[in-house]
Amino acid sequence: LRHFLTLEGLPRALLESLLDRAQALRDEAFSGVALRNRLLGQTVCNLFFEPSTRTRSSFQLAAARLGADVLNFDAASASTKKGETDLDTLKTLRAMGVDAFVIRHAQDGAVDALADRAGGAALINAGDGRRAHPTQGLLDMLTLRQRKGADFSRLRVLMVGDILHSRVARSDLHALRTLGAGEIRVCGPDALLPGDDVLHGCVRVPRLDEAVEGVDAVFMLRLQRERMVEGLVPSLDDYFRDYGLDPARLRRAAPGAVVLHPGPINRGVEIADAVADGAQSVILDQVANGVAARMAVLEALLEPSHHLQPTFPVARR
Ligand code: CP
Repeated sequence: LRHFLTLEGLPRALLESLLDRAQALRDEAFSGVALRNRLLGQTVCNLFFEPSTRTRSSFQLAAARLGADVLNFDAASASTKKGETDLDTLKTLRAMGVDAFVIRHAQDGAVDALADRAGGAALINAGDGRRAHPTQGLLDMLTLRQRKGADFSRLRVLMVGDILHSRVARSDLHALRTLGAGEIRVCGPDALLPGDDVLHGCVRVPRLDEAVEGVDAVFMLRLQRERMVEGLVPSLDDYFRDYGLDPARLRRAAPGAVVLHPGPINRGVEIADAVADGAQSVILDQVANGVAARMAVLEALLEPSHHLQPTFPVARR
């Protein structure tokens, strides 16, 4: 791997080996084995042009736990405010010895556009516009696999809400297809569902009560009001009535079904408190898995020999 820009087209074997490695790193981290020399001498820069809590913090922790130096770029107080371009910013930081950039950007394709001009540094897409959020896709698959096993062909999954504006949804769909998910249902307002270029192979079910029937996992999505044009933002009460996941609806899912949400959550808009904080929610597992998944990606880019070690402990669940 030179860069990590999207899960689209990533071979299944590579995706599964990243998941195996993330699981092993998670087990290793919790068993107290020192990880701190893996990326010693490497520098990772978080270059975030959009807000983030989970992705930015977990990349910071992942890099630090592997022994890398971490530089957190603050776009709000940087020379980008004086008109410096993204490329000049990247080149400037690269000249200081940054080996990998973790980039979040509001524009679709902004990270890919820098990939050929990164001066040998590795780029990781931490979310670009509505296009891709590959490490979120990875940590979501890790979370699902921990709860439901590695054979996705038996799984019926449902994705609910604002898929149109969601880079998480796109990356999850790429990964679910690659891993052979048995059935992928989607449900949301017509205005917030993209076309078949994104939803090919998915089953559209208009009413949530029917869509949730018998599914093993529900992927809830945030209503991304900041990306909607004026006038398209639905009434929040209507939205929750039609597309909100509450305990009564969740009871229609298969026994033991799990509920995922990438965060941040709009409580009472797309998900009820009792579901978000309930026994079937794996939202905080997703957060915890985010550190391990991002460690696996950093290691694969910056220290691939560790990743490829055949004797490395691999935990499959
Ligand atoms: N899931 C996710 O990308 O969250 P943040 O925006 O907080 O990073």
